[in-house]
Amino acid sequence: MTLPTALKSRLRLPLIAAPMFLVSGPALVKAACRSGVIGAFPTANCRTVDELDRWLADMGDDRSRAADETGRAPAPVCPNLIVHRSNPRVADDLAAVLRAKVEIVITSVGSPEPVMKPLKEAGCLVLADVASVRHAEKAVAAGVDGLVLLTAGAGGQTGWVNPFSFVRAVRAFWDGIVVMAGGMSDGQAIAAAETLGCDLAYMGTKFIATRESLAKDAYKALLVASRLDDILLTRAFTGLETNMLRPSIAAAGLDPDNLPPRGAIDIAKDINAAEREKPQAKRWKDIWSAGHSVSGVTDIPSVADLVERTAREYAAVKRPA
Ligand SMILES: Cc1cc2nc3c(=O)[nH]c(=O)nc-3n(C[C@H](O)[C@H](O)[C@H](O)COP(=O)(O)O)c2cc1C
Repeated sequence: MTLPTALKSRLRLPLIAAPMFLVSGPALVKAACRSGVIGAFPTANCRTVDELDRWLADMGDDRSRAADETGRAPAPVCPNLIVHRSNPRVADDLAAVLRAKVEIVITSVGSPEPVMKPLKEAGCLVLADVASVRHAEKAVAAGVDGLVLLTAGAGGQTGWVNPFSFVRAVRAFWDGIVVMAGGMSDGQAIAAAETLGCDLAYMGTKFIATRESLAKDAYKALLVASRLDDILLTRAFTGLETNMLRPSIAAAGLDPDNLPPRGAIDIAKDINAAEREKPQAKRWKDIWSAGHSVSGVTDIPSVADLVERTAREYAAVKRPA
């Protein structure tokens, strides 16, 4: 498969700390890169393009310092561009990402086609988030280097396809990079994704419950206390199928089993910075998302400790005693 050797040799694990709205910030990304896993973040986490420029400069400086301190290059920073047509900042965020000369970009919630030309001209590796074989085919036609397969059980706005079938269906026509997203709760799962034909795995939920994530302490604690059965698949909050933590819905005074109709509550509006300060938006900020991989969250380690633990689990499967 086609993960560039120069990239692979810098990774401790074939892993991306997945981009998460209001969760992935500079501390998490910098710690991930220093630990040897790709550190992703949605550019929407910055309220302005100036702030995005500052984040990227800070992350770049830290990577240079890490290289000086350790004598080896850290893993790449990977901005996530939400390319949906409702996002008015795509062009400005793209320009910031190009200014920072990042090595990898992930596109999500829409076709990567409009941003492909400038990113490829800049020599950037482009991974597109896809949730169906038809989306995968379209992304391949647009010229992406890799596909992030969003599968059933993923945190946030989830996929619905079974991961085993999805990877094999995509491998039937695609020999580029494949990333598994959804349900990766430990090193064993990452090794299994590789066996299936993936080059990399996404881990989202487990990184929410790290010391460096931007998530509130109560959110992290709820992840530790929750188990797989606490995840509710619903369209009530974002209009799209999203995996949510049932106890956080109940704590907001709603009945998880009798939610208002699809999209009646629009957490996605938070994406628009102007909406974030509205009292209603604030209320929904305490209704939280997580994936099935919540089953693997048992504590709130540092990013370095989570990566170390995951690397040990992965090595135990790869090199059985
Ligand atoms: C709170 C939260 C926010 C997310 N925000 C984004 C986002 O802004 N962009 C994106 O591409 N994916 C987003 N995702 C999806 C993750 O990148 C990833 O696909 C998912 O977490 C993988 O499943 P896992 O949580 O079981 O590891 C989000 C997920 C969560 C839980």
